[in-house]
Amino acid sequence: MCGIVGYMGKKDAFPVLINGLKRLEYRGYDSSGIALYNGDLEIYKCKGKVQELENLTGGKIKSAKLGIGHTRWATHGEPNDVNAHPHISNNGDLVIVHNGIIENCDSLKQFLLDRNYTFKSDTDTEILINFIEYVQKEEKVTLDQAVRLALREVVGAYAIAVISKKEPDFMVSARLGSPLVLGLGSGEFFIGSDATPFIDLTKKVIYLEDGEMAIISTTGVSIRTIESDQPVDAVIHRLKMDLDSIEKGGYDHFMLKEIFEQPTSILNTIRGRLFENNAQIRMAGLDAISDKLEKANRILIIGCGTSWHAGLVGEYIIEDLSRIPVEVEYASEFRYRNPIIKSDDIVIAISQSGETADTLAAIKMAKAAGACVFGICNVVGSSIARESSAGAFTHAGPEIGVASTKAFTAQVTVLTMIALYLGRSNDNLSKSRFKEIAKEIKLIPKKIESMLELDDKVQSIAKLLNKSNNALFLGRGFNFPVALEGALKLKEISYIHAEGYPAAEMKHGPIALIDDNMPVIIVAPRGGMYEKIVSNIQEVKARKGAVISVTSYGESEVKALSDAVIEIPETLDCLTPLLTTIPLQLLSYHVAVQRECNVDQPRNLAKSVTVE
Ligand code: AGP
Repeated sequence: MCGIVGYMGKKDAFPVLINGLKRLEYRGYDSSGIALYNGDLEIYKCKGKVQELENLTGGKIKSAKLGIGHTRWATHGEPNDVNAHPHISNNGDLVIVHNGIIENCDSLKQFLLDRNYTFKSDTDTEILINFIEYVQKEEKVTLDQAVRLALREVVGAYAIAVISKKEPDFMVSARLGSPLVLGLGSGEFFIGSDATPFIDLTKKVIYLEDGEMAIISTTGVSIRTIESDQPVDAVIHRLKMDLDSIEKGGYDHFMLKEIFEQPTSILNTIRGRLFENNAQIRMAGLDAISDKLEKANRILIIGCGTSWHAGLVGEYIIEDLSRIPVEVEYASEFRYRNPIIKSDDIVIAISQSGETADTLAAIKMAKAAGACVFGICNVVGSSIARESSAGAFTHAGPEIGVASTKAFTAQVTVLTMIALYLGRSNDNLSKSRFKEIAKEIKLIPKKIESMLELDDKVQSIAKLLNKSNNALFLGRGFNFPVALEGALKLKEISYIHAEGYPAAEMKHGPIALIDDNMPVIIVAPRGGMYEKIVSNIQEVKARKGAVISVTSYGESEVKALSDAVIEIPETLDCLTPLLTTIPLQLLSYHVAVQRECNVDQPRNLAKSVTVE
């Protein structure tokens, strides 16, 4: 996700900012930029790496003691020079860097257009800085008050830093929903999305809380509330973490950090899209192809690996809620088997990276056959996003660990919203059922949070597996794809051979594998298939298989049959994959750590398979 840095002090700001941006590269980005105040505002920004930004300045930087910088992870607008931050206001006085999403940017933009404001970029950030300019002019206030009053009208998530050439003794920052840290040096001050940009320059930090803003001046820092401009008695912390652990947010691995980010990433996935009260899904990509969706007789979902598993969950949910036939295909098979593709097919292509070669090739083939392609990607500006006729971004933020975790739950969340959209469009889903599901989706982040508290318990259960050579994952209904995904997680990071199966398939062969050396992980939440999966557990136990179950709180029958149980909160059957996946992610993570495997970069694997 985006990263911001800021500096005010005695040093030359340029090297501090550039080094700070390089420290933030681990967060993933597609462009970068800096703004310096040296009597005037100088802005340098470009698509690509920070090194390219440094080359762009070509040493023609005049000395400056104040500046802000940004690495951009595109959410609104393609990755290019124009959309890169910082953004400057129409009057040329104000510049901003921003991490987050302004949900009401369209209405703010129209408000400003009506007042003759112009825009160069497609970003929500440029709208925000012009709105701050507008407020400052209308209210005749200082920069800090203009920022505060403007943010009170903003809906969404932000961490910002703003400077003005008319008030060069101040730097204003604020946060709501995106992280922001202040560094306190001696006579110098730093801003960062985390402490990595300045950890070698000061260990004294203030963590801004949501709804707070910081007014930094050459004499000190004042923390105030955005809503009511009340002073905040901020706590100064002394950093103990080293650079490497800050990049991982204090977690031992990116994968664990990303597992724990899922309450936030799912909130960002549904942000501005799910409206329970009027039973509406707002997704521009779906509206853009609504005529094709109405005529769709079939939906083809294509993807690879974890994305294919998300597609399988999508098949179950979309057919259940919209009654439109869905087929799920491995992209690598689809592209070569001479499939039947009709011009009224809707093809949903799922890809976290947006660069998977097989998926990209399959999309091109489907488009050539006249099908409409809807891309679900996590990377704005990626090849698959650009190749798709329409699409929706998962907004899960950069996924660094090779094993996909938060991208999977974000993909399933987008597919669930698509199922709701389609079900309401063709009237196969009642308003009341829509509202019931939408209401429960909004509770999922909190329920995942409660499950993450089971991490220690899962870590001890992992000891039952870490010496195994094989494992079986079983699930039924919506949780059959979860069994496949759990098996993939375990095999790809711990190198234990694991297979996922529909639980009822055991009697058609795999049950021959069961003995006391074959651990079986069974996904058995309360719901439609519960009774049947209990009998599957009994079949395994009768053959001395060790059973680890993922079930709902209080399910005593499963508990009595299992050697270990991980309990999940109650939810609707169709939403259980969003919860049952979490313990399986944690389980594979801890088994891999206990086997001293390279969790974030497993052997033989790449984060994005851009070749066949
Ligand atoms: C997921 O844990 C794997 N690393 C892998 O299967 C991945 O899901 C697959 O390569 C597809 O990648 P994509 O989503 O970026 O297209």
